[in-house]
Amino acid sequence: MIGRTHGRVPVEAVERISAFDRPAKRAGATVRGALAGRPALREAVLDVAGGRHRGAADRLVLLGALAALPAALTGATDWADTEAGDDRVRRAGAAHAAVNGGALVLQLASLSARRRGRRRMGVGLSLAAQGLLGAGGMLGGHLAFARGVGVDQTVFDPGPSDWTPLVAGEPGAGPSSGRAGETPVVLVRDGAGIRALHDRCSHRGCSLAGGRIDAGAIECPCHGSRFSLDDGRVLRGPATAPQPVFDVRRVGEGLEARRRA
Ligand code: FES
Repeated sequence: MIGRTHGRVPVEAVERISAFDRPAKRAGATVRGALAGRPALREAVLDVAGGRHRGAADRLVLLGALAALPAALTGATDWADTEAGDDRVRRAGAAHAAVNGGALVLQLASLSARRRGRRRMGVGLSLAAQGLLGAGGMLGGHLAFARGVGVDQTVFDPGPSDWTPLVAGEPGAGPSSGRAGETPVVLVRDGAGIRALHDRCSHRGCSLAGGRIDAGAIECPCHGSRFSLDDGRVLRGPATAPQPVFDVRRVGEGLEARRRA
């Protein structure tokens, strides 16, 4: 998780390189046309081709089995953080893990069969594993795209970029909640100034207003992520995405906020 947190900044820098657009669009169209729906079947194609392709097919089965282990660990972490508050995620995630686990068992059995010279059985087991992986991929996609597991919880509501009246009481030394337009904001008094972050934790959406302030950071009450009050960066996971930060100003008797660029 730490690697993911620190990897985000260079990834965002890459997102801003518009020079990639033309070649990437061309490559995307070519790849879509040539490979749509087929990458998961490469190993099966090599199996069916047989002959000199057999060694490559066996190596792909082994690589796939090895790659499943880190993927299972990160998936289990995301699921464990989410299932406690969402029955649907608990069930779909458990099914996703069971189906993918079954596919892994079949691939290991296939490897064993291939090594014992029972190639036909090995290929059959691999094909069955790929059927399960298709179902597992569908469940995984549903968890990410429909249930938002692993998604930055502020990404579709980053907050107003223009000065907007802030509906809030007078902030104190502890966190309190407010609202800038439709966006929930957590406020903290810091000397003469006021610090403000998006109130919805980027990790799983808990309200940071229920958290605690410590050494210039706010700690989420749900899983303990810590965000800098200065700039919203992640000081401790499991969150991997920073909190949007707001500038606050006084206008007459009230307050206004806008998202910092
Ligand atoms: S919701 Fe998980 S750390 Fe905030």
